[in-house]
Amino acid sequence: MAADPDPKEGAVASTLEEVLRQAREALADLPADRADDVALRLERWGPDLLQGLAVYGDDAPLAEVVGLVTAAARTRRPALVALDKRRLLRPDWFGSPDQVGYVCYADRFAGTLRGVGEKLGYLRELGVTYLHLMPLLEPREGPDDGGYAVRDYRTLRPDLGTLADLGRLADSLHAHGMTLTLDLVLNHVAREHDWAQAALRGEEPYRSYFLMYPDRTAPDAYERTLPEVFPDFAPGSFTWVPEAVRPAGWGPGPDAGATGDAGRGAWVWTTFNDFQWDLDWSNPAVFCELLSVILDLANVGVDVFRLDAIAFLWKRLGTTCQGEPEVHQVVQALRAATRVAAPAVIFKAEAIVAPEHLPAYLGTGRHAGKVCDLAYHNSLMVQLWSAVATGRADLARRALAVPPPKPVTTSWGTYVRCHDDIGWAISDTDAGALGLSGFAHRRFLAEFFTGAFPGSFARGEHFQANPATGDARISGTLASLAGLEAALETAAATGRTADVDLALGRIFLLHAVAYGYGGIPLLYMGDELGLRNDRSYLDDPRLAADNRWLHRPWMDWTAAERRHDPATVEGRVFAGLRHLARVRSGLPALHAAVESEPVDLGNGAVLALRRRHPAGIFLGLYNVSPAWQRVSGVDVARLGVPQPWENLSAFAPRPEDGELALPPYAAWWLTRSPG
Ligand code: GLC
Ligand code: GLC
Repeated sequence: MAADPDPKEGAVASTLEEVLRQAREALADLPADRADDVALRLERWGPDLLQGLAVYGDDAPLAEVVGLVTAAARTRRPALVALDKRRLLRPDWFGSPDQVGYVCYADRFAGTLRGVGEKLGYLRELGVTYLHLMPLLEPREGPDDGGYAVRDYRTLRPDLGTLADLGRLADSLHAHGMTLTLDLVLNHVAREHDWAQAALRGEEPYRSYFLMYPDRTAPDAYERTLPEVFPDFAPGSFTWVPEAVRPAGWGPGPDAGATGDAGRGAWVWTTFNDFQWDLDWSNPAVFCELLSVILDLANVGVDVFRLDAIAFLWKRLGTTCQGEPEVHQVVQALRAATRVAAPAVIFKAEAIVAPEHLPAYLGTGRHAGKVCDLAYHNSLMVQLWSAVATGRADLARRALAVPPPKPVTTSWGTYVRCHDDIGWAISDTDAGALGLSGFAHRRFLAEFFTGAFPGSFARGEHFQANPATGDARISGTLASLAGLEAALETAAATGRTADVDLALGRIFLLHAVAYGYGGIPLLYMGDELGLRNDRSYLDDPRLAADNRWLHRPWMDWTAAERRHDPATVEGRVFAGLRHLARVRSGLPALHAAVESEPVDLGNGAVLALRRRHPAGIFLGLYNVSPAWQRVSGVDVARLGVPQPWENLSAFAPRPEDGELALPPYAAWWLTRSPG
C-alpha cells in the first residue's frame, strides 16, 4: 500500500490562515457570535481538513470546499445550530448506554415519512433513540438494489414524501431526543443519474466522474485481484456499455464493423450491479459534489450519515480495491468539513471487512478519531451466529480478541441482523487455532443456516453462492435463522412447544449480546416481533432476483398489536427487547468508550465478555448452548465481580459446590452486587 502524502506542517499553517481569511469573508454578514463559532471550528478542524484534502495534491479543491462549508454554516436552521451546541457539550452523546437503534424501510414500516412520524410512540416503547431509515433518495426505476442506486441526491422518493417532510420528521425526532440516520451512497450512482447520462454522451466534466475504459486491458488487470461482490447476479466488476460515446483518443471500439458503431462502447467500473456506476474519487470534483450533498442533507436535519460500501471508494491496481489508505483520507476530509458546518452530525462506516481492518474506519494512526464515529461490528454478528449453530463460543472468544482497539471517542453499531445477507467472515487463522478448517466451517455455516444440515433449527437461503470459491452467504430473518419458523411449524403440527421456547431463548440471547457489548444496538425492523421470512418479494419482478428481500419484510401491525400479550411470541420477544433497553440504560459500564474483552472461563459453551470501565466492571456471561453450563465462581470473582449481581433477572447468583450454573441460552449481565 502506498503511504499517504503528509503535507509539511508549515505549509498547513499558512494555508490554514488563508482558509480562515476566506471563511471570515464569507461569513461577514452573519451575527458576530455565529461567525466566531464557525471560525473557531475551522481553526479546530481545519488541519484535519487540509490533511485529508492533501490526497488531491495540487488539485485540492480548497477554496471550493471552504465555500461549501461556509454556505452551509450560514444557512443552518436555528434549531440545528442549537443542536450543534448541545452536542458539542456532550461529544459522547452517541456512546451512552441509553442509545438504541432501529433500522427500517420507511414504506415497509409506515408507508410514508409522515407515517413514520406517527409511529414514534411505538419506537419509544422499545427505547429507540436512533432511527435509521433505509435509502430514501430518488432511485432509478426498475431494480434499484434496495434504493442503493440513486438517480437524484436532491429529491426524495416521491411516494415517501418531500425534503420538507424529512425536515419535519427530523425535528420531531429531535424533540423526542432521537436522531435520524440516512444512507449516503458514495461509491456509486445509478446509471440513470444525470452525471452518468452525461458521461454516456461523452460529455466532460462528467466522463471523468466515472471509471471508463476503451477495452478489456485495464479491467482484466484490475480483475486479477478484485473479489466479486455479486458473483451470481452481477459477475465481474466492469460492465460493457455499448452506447457510451468514445472519446477521440480511444480509436474505434471493438464493435466496429458488423452492426456496431465504432464511435461507441466502453467498459464502466461497476463493483456492485451493472446499473450502479462507481464514481472516481480521485477526481476532486466528485469530492465536492458529494460533500455538497452531505451538507445539504445535514441542514435538512440528518444526524448520522451511513457511509455505504465505504471500503470500495479508492481503486489501486494490484489490490482488492478495498480499504486503500486514500479511503481514510477522503473520509477525514468529508468528516472535518462536515464538523465545521454541522458539528451535531456524525458518520457511520459500513465497512464489512476483516476484523483487523475494521478499526481503520474508526481511525487509526494519524486518522485516529478523525474519520467515522460509528462502524458496524460485523465480526461480532458473524461470531454470534456461528456460536449458536455450534453451541460453542471458543471461536468467538478468539476472533473477538483479535482487533486492535478503536479510538475511545468512537462506538460500534452492534447488530444481529440487518437488511443485508450474512457473509461467513470466519478467518482461516482463527479456525486453524482451534483445529478447524476455515473453509469447512464456512461451508458448515452456509449449510446450517439454510436448514439443510442435519439437526439444524434454521430456515434461510443461500445468497450469491460462488462455485469458484465455495462461498455462500445467507439470507433470512433473525427469527427464522434462530429457529422460530421451524419451531412454530412443529408446534402447529404436533402441539410440541419446547422448540419454540428454545428459539425464543436464542433470540433473547443474541440480542442480549448485542445490547450488552457496548455500542449502539441496531434492531432491524420486525425482529422486535420475531417476524419470519417473507416470501412476498417473489411476486415483485423488481425484487424477485434478490433474496435479501426475504428478510426485509413489511411491518405486520396486526402482529404488533399482540406485543403486550405475554402469551404470544410477539409479546415475549418485544418484552425481552424493552427490558434489555431499560436495564442497559442504567449500566454506566456499557458506555462505548471501553471495549468488551473476551475472557476464558474454561467452558467453551459460555461466551464471557468483560468491560473494565472506571464506573465498575461488567461481565457478560452468555450460554450459547441449549444445555446447562457451569463456570467457576472463583474465576468470576477473579475477573472483578466477587459478589455478582445479575442485572437482567435482578438476582444474586450463588455458587453451588464452587460453581455457577447457567440455564440453556442464559444471558447474564453481572456487576458487583449493589448491596
Ligand atoms: C451496501 C448495502 C447493500 C448494497 C451495497 C451496494 O453494502 O448495505 O445493501 O447492496 O452497499 O450499494
Ligand atoms: C458485500 C459488501 C458489503 C455489502 C454486501 C451486500 O458484502 O462488502 O458492503 O453490504 O456485499 O450484500
